[in-house]
Amino acid sequence: MSKRLKDQIAIVTGAADGIGRSIAELFCQEGASVCVADVNEALGESVVKNLTEQGLKAIFVNTDVSNIDSVKNMVDQTVNLLGKPTVLINNAGIIYENKKFLETPTEQWDKSFAVNLDGMWHCCKQVIPYMKEVGFGTIVNIGSVHSFKIVPNHFPYAVTKHAIIGLTKNLAVELGEDNIRVNALCPGMVETAAAFKWFAESEDPVAARKKIADIHPLRRNASCDEIAYPALFLASKESSFMTGQSLIVDGGRSVVYHL
Ligand SMILES: NC(=O)c1ccc[n+]([C@@H]2O[C@H](COP(=O)([O-])OP(=O)(O)OC[C@H]3O[C@@H](n4cnc5c(N)ncnc54)[C@H](O)[C@@H]3O)[C@@H](O)[C@H]2O)c1
Repeated sequence: MSKRLKDQIAIVTGAADGIGRSIAELFCQEGASVCVADVNEALGESVVKNLTEQGLKAIFVNTDVSNIDSVKNMVDQTVNLLGKPTVLINNAGIIYENKKFLETPTEQWDKSFAVNLDGMWHCCKQVIPYMKEVGFGTIVNIGSVHSFKIVPNHFPYAVTKHAIIGLTKNLAVELGEDNIRVNALCPGMVETAAAFKWFAESEDPVAARKKIADIHPLRRNASCDEIAYPALFLASKESSFMTGQSLIVDGGRSVVYHL
């Protein structure tokens, strides 16, 4: 079977770690040339070193998605070194723990929107003109179960993640005639290095991990690969008649009605 992203040029933001890293690695294995765009230079360079040592094609560009000039530089470098982007995975995101509305400092509101939402706006703004030139493209915006429901004490994460669904639908409607598809991918709890650090900091790490796992009908949290494969589906021709949608990959968490 031929590789599913053969000859594609993909940008994956926040790809130095976690879900983004798994997506970048899988996309390379599936034939894409990948730009790893992240603020974490040391981790990002190590991801790219690992990929290029396997003979795969990847570059790292130090990128702060909340800064339009930084994003423009990243897209310019991608075009110069790899080619015009045909796949964009808007994955970079941040979350502040244990915040209620009135306790949230304005800086955290601003930073949450700057990274989680403006970051997508900046990347789309820079990448879409190239997709129009090429004649096709796929964009995957990483939302969350927080895109549809409110988990108390995580303000304003869910507000930013709800907004991503609106951005996804609006872009899909506008860009359909250009053969550019835009979908959201919405994970439940995913066991990244950051998640394990968070478990480790609790009084009982095993219990902390199990408590969250038990929210999901599958009684476990996702691995990063379990999000990377649905991202591959959305980015490839396998989802060719799908646009403006939200694919929820949450081990059944969102269908449980809690009494
Ligand atoms: N882990 C989960 O349980 C989970 C669940 C649902 C949705 N998500 C979403 O998935 C995405 C990835 O989350 P993760 O858990 O893999 O996170 P992570 O913290 O493991 O990795 C995030 C990456 O984004 C980078 N990043 C942060 N700010 C950036 C910026 N301004 N510009 C560029 N890169 C930046 C970080 O350096 C890091 O490499 C996020 O959008 C997150 O909201 C995560």
